[in-house]
Amino acid sequence: MPATIVIGAQWGDEGKGKITDLLAEKADVIARYQGGNNAGHTIVRDGEEFKLHLIPSGILYAGKTCVIGNGVVIDPRIMFEELEALRSRGIPGDNLQVSGNAHLIMPYHLLLDGASERQLGRFKIGTTGRGIGPCYIDKYTRTGIRVQDLLDEKILRRKIHTALEEKNWLLQHYDLGVLDPDQVTDDLLAYRERFESFICDASLLVNQALDDDKHVLFEGAQGALLDIDFGTYPFVTSSNPIAGGACTGAGVGPTRIDHVVGVAKAYTTRVGEGPFPTELFDDVGAAMCEVGHEFGTTTGRKRRCGWLDLVALRYAVRTSGITHLAITKLDVLSGLPGLKVCTGYRAGRRVHEEFPLLQTDFHHAEPLYEELPGWSEDLRECESWQDLPETARDYVQYIATFTQTRVKFIAVGPARDETIILPRSIGRGGAV
Ligand code: GDP
Ligand code: IMO
Ligand code: MG
Repeated sequence: MPATIVIGAQWGDEGKGKITDLLAEKADVIARYQGGNNAGHTIVRDGEEFKLHLIPSGILYAGKTCVIGNGVVIDPRIMFEELEALRSRGIPGDNLQVSGNAHLIMPYHLLLDGASERQLGRFKIGTTGRGIGPCYIDKYTRTGIRVQDLLDEKILRRKIHTALEEKNWLLQHYDLGVLDPDQVTDDLLAYRERFESFICDASLLVNQALDDDKHVLFEGAQGALLDIDFGTYPFVTSSNPIAGGACTGAGVGPTRIDHVVGVAKAYTTRVGEGPFPTELFDDVGAAMCEVGHEFGTTTGRKRRCGWLDLVALRYAVRTSGITHLAITKLDVLSGLPGLKVCTGYRAGRRVHEEFPLLQTDFHHAEPLYEELPGWSEDLRECESWQDLPETARDYVQYIATFTQTRVKFIAVGPARDETIILPRSIGRGGAV
């Protein structure tokens, strides 16, 4: 697996941190390529839990290079706080490299994120409030501040002055006062020295690693249905979590990618606003939330829970060219007598077998379900495909067949070793 991309195949929180950490054992370089500290990736190692927001999930391994690519947006305060927290737990974090082209989340981005949500009122997106959208706005209007700007104080000061001319006008409009450009610049420059040792040409680093036959793992944040182009717009994040984002967000060509691992929960969750056809408002949804501890890693918000949406998952397979699936949290479904999976939608008089193009259709989509038998056994002790109850195997096989994708990993608990790695992946009609 010289170059493997790990992506979320739903609305985020699928267990990407866990799967990345698992795959990182065999990788030399682990790179984040989009998003920022809106992400919350959980890793459980030797009974210890780590929650990472910005630093790649490979950081727990010494001797591996962790890269924050150009496509990521960085809040410097969070980055250094996270590094500090890791250090205090014995993880040195000195193997981190940060692209000089990555954009910085500025104090005004945080203020504007909150303000635009308030302005939208009941139409709000339910963002994480981490300044992600406003930072990407500036990137695309070409008024953003990049990591490399820290190296040239004069340019940095000028850029911040220019940016604040417009932002202060907006902040005043929102009754948020104004920011002093020199103060903002000085505050940022306080990070310069600490940043300097991390700054790199991430694209060069990653490509050279691949030239040297090293293994590079690209760690996606968020998920395919939160993608700015292919997600449930406008209820999405402001970057491209799909696999293609790894190319633009880390400076690597598509021809260099070997595998795309799509991580999907055995059911579905979503945080924030937006359509979710298979959402459950009954005891089953409440049970998923309770058993699966479905509370946001970043904001602590309760995640909305529902049945597995196979149409949406197949769409994620298509838009990211997923080669292998990692099905997580299968253990959470134990004890449910019957399991529903969504295999189509009805919107008005039309039945959709594919993810609808029109958002209005998706907003009104009623799920069409197939019902599969459940199992009562606790799966957390299962170590192999054969250990799983037959109905759990049938459930996984159904996912593989419907999405026409191979299942390679089945997670049955949060810990690294609570994962079944299938020797011959199932799917495309094939059996183990
Ligand atoms: P990410 O954002 O995709 O990395 O996922 P999060 O870390 O936000 O949320 C996934 C949650 O599920 C975390 O608390 C994980 O520890 C937990 N988790 C991951 N895989 C499994 C699994 O197979 N079973 C159970 N019970 N929990 C899991
Ligand atoms: P990980 O990497 C789940 C959601 C927010 C909101 C929308 C836009 O842990 O899977 P933003 O702050 O990005 O502008 O918010 O996207 N969102 C996530 N949901 N997991 C995440 O990350 C998310 N990052 C953003 O809840 O609906
Ligand atoms: Mg998360």
